[in-house]
Amino acid sequence: MRATLLHHVHQLTDDLPAYVYDLPGLREHVRTIRAALPQRVQLLYAAKANSDPRVLQVLAEHVDGFEVASGGEIRHVRGLFPGAPIAFGGPGKTPAELTQALDAGVERLHIESEHELRTLTTVLGDRIADVLLRVNVPVTIRPVALAMGGGPSPFGLDPSQLGRCLDIIAADGRIRLHGLHAHLASGLDARAHLALVDQIMSWADRWAHQRGIPLTEVNIGGGMGVDYADPRDVFDWPAFGIGLRRTLERHPDLTLRIEPGRSVTAYCGWYVTQVLDIKFSRGEAFAVLRGGTHHLRTPAAKQHDQPFEVVPDDSWHQPWTRPEARDEPVTLVGQLCTPKDVLARRAMVDRLRVGDRIAFAMAGAYAWNISHHEFLMHPHPTFHHIDDADAPIADTHAVQTA
Ligand SMILES: Cc1ncc(COP(=O)(O)O)c(C=O)c1O
Repeated sequence: MRATLLHHVHQLTDDLPAYVYDLPGLREHVRTIRAALPQRVQLLYAAKANSDPRVLQVLAEHVDGFEVASGGEIRHVRGLFPGAPIAFGGPGKTPAELTQALDAGVERLHIESEHELRTLTTVLGDRIADVLLRVNVPVTIRPVALAMGGGPSPFGLDPSQLGRCLDIIAADGRIRLHGLHAHLASGLDARAHLALVDQIMSWADRWAHQRGIPLTEVNIGGGMGVDYADPRDVFDWPAFGIGLRRTLERHPDLTLRIEPGRSVTAYCGWYVTQVLDIKFSRGEAFAVLRGGTHHLRTPAAKQHDQPFEVVPDDSWHQPWTRPEARDEPVTLVGQLCTPKDVLARRAMVDRLRVGDRIAFAMAGAYAWNISHHEFLMHPHPTFHHIDDADAPIADTHAVQTA
């Protein structure tokens, strides 16, 4: 943990549990990502991963736009960045959302089905829509964290439906087709992702050639892997950039787009809490923490152990012996009345005492915003943004709403 962050965690008193966002760390990370990518790769950030306004403000300076997946996200992102390019994707777009997207001037609509395309024609009026067709490209995907394609899937168009979509577009005259979209999997390392890009591009080249369509844009989605078991094993952006450069060399008129979420913001967020109790059950140690998976659902959703650091707190004012675990595995659980409220299982600790703080790392993506906040009606966490590496307590204490 960076010294600035650690200092800030020590300053937190009555406001635990707390989310702490390391904005200088995020800035540096997104700069590294951008620098690794060729110019002809446009970087959109998938706002669903974390749409905290101050996180988005940092990202806005380094990305080419935002990918959104609902009317709520359109409103949120457009409200913050009136001029930013927005791509609207995701299944089940309602007529009202399509209208909202057109009114908000979104730059791209990612069409998920023939029905959605037909619905778009009913709300267009005299406007023009710029679209990509999202395709469940017939590729082989090795086992990954989440697969959205490569087999039967509710996401994107089956290739067999593309012909009818092209007919609708040709007959309508108000829809400009720019190319294809293929977000097929999440949790890929750079090598596996590049292999997938090759498969997508071979299929897309063949398809475009057969149809006589100039392929000017392909969005290959997000899904760049994040290793929760080893936070230092970061997605290899330089290797990915080199691979994409090769793809672009073979396609001189193509713009590639990517829309990562998790791999951009996971590292900047920390969920900091405190040990409320330590108990031993049939020989195993459990630490009960303030808060739990209703604030940080990521480990329950992904079935992993959330990485953490113990931040010792030496203040102890009770007349009894402070409960502690020493040199042994401890399971970290929350305050919920369910055995699923586990943040890390049998993690080795040197020493963990009631009152010590626990700072869970990699809590910047799909963390607070995917959690079931109201279950058991515990207080919400507080939110803090560290924004200046030289000023440790630049706390803004903004309360983030879901
Ligand atoms: C269409 C689409 N694009 C991008 C993303 C972002 O994926 P990740 O956060 O794994 O990079 C998602 C995530 O579900 C998605 O569905």
